[in-house]
Amino acid sequence: MDTWNTDQTHQPSSSKPGERTKVIAINSSPRKERGNTALILNPLLTGMKEAGADVDLYYTEDLSVLPCRGDLTCFCRPSGRCIQSDDMEWLMPEIREADILVFASPLYVDGVNGPMKTLIDRLVPLLHMSIETRDGHSRHTPKDTKVRRIMLVSNCGFWERDNFDPLIMHMQALSKNMNAEFAGALIRPHGTFMRSAAALGLPFEDILEAAGKAGHQIVEDGIIAEETLATVSREMLSYEQFIQISTPMIESLTAKLGREDRS
Ligand SMILES: Cc1cc2nc3c(=O)[nH]c(=O)nc-3n(C[C@H](O)[C@H](O)[C@H](O)COP(=O)(O)O)c2cc1C
Repeated sequence: MDTWNTDQTHQPSSSKPGERTKVIAINSSPRKERGNTALILNPLLTGMKEAGADVDLYYTEDLSVLPCRGDLTCFCRPSGRCIQSDDMEWLMPEIREADILVFASPLYVDGVNGPMKTLIDRLVPLLHMSIETRDGHSRHTPKDTKVRRIMLVSNCGFWERDNFDPLIMHMQALSKNMNAEFAGALIRPHGTFMRSAAALGLPFEDILEAAGKAGHQIVEDGIIAEETLATVSREMLSYEQFIQISTPMIESLTAKLGREDRS
């Protein structure tokens, strides 16, 4: 798979002309602002704000979101209320009013990480339990939500971009089921190198600029240019360099922790 963005349509980001675009972003990195996910997410959100959007950013680390109990009560209740009491009580109405939802998660075992999956599972009451046929496929009927676009921000440790393929497929399926457009993925392979890029002499300013540009483009034009997304995920170093630099770093960390284990 060599695509990060399949079903973008060229439509304004807010639902009504003249209305400000409302964006809800969720960052599920446990490392919050110190994490690599934030390095791409933050310029994206800054670009969205500069383009006139109202942006709210939440960290799953700061939220209490309990795992779904699977009893389907929220799905059947018109109010969508869960049997559990946690931060989803106030977050769900916020999410319902968002034009754009940004899921920002580090890649963990080929998908979103646990806290993000827990939160996504809890979004089920954005839909009715009733089933309809959309795009020749059985899907739950959407409730009256504003969410029109879903975006993904992710980074990973491995070098190749195709490490994100399962995650992107998940986001595409999730967007279709939520009756929203998958508006693009800002993915950063070998994202673990970003923090040390300057020390390693690897230029990456253009990557951060492109993330900001993506924010402008989605709010102003309703579409992110392929070129912009390609810059965000461009190769920062060759595969050989990646192995050359990673191997001693991993060996030294393993040795240090091995000493700690023995002491
Ligand atoms: C439990 C765990 C699973 C991971 N799984 C993958 C993976 O499947 N593929 C990959 O390339 N990187 C994987 N990584 C590396 C992270 O994606 C990487 O460290 C990332 O930069 C973390 O982002 P953050 O700093 O925003 O938390 C994993 C890291 C952890 C802790």
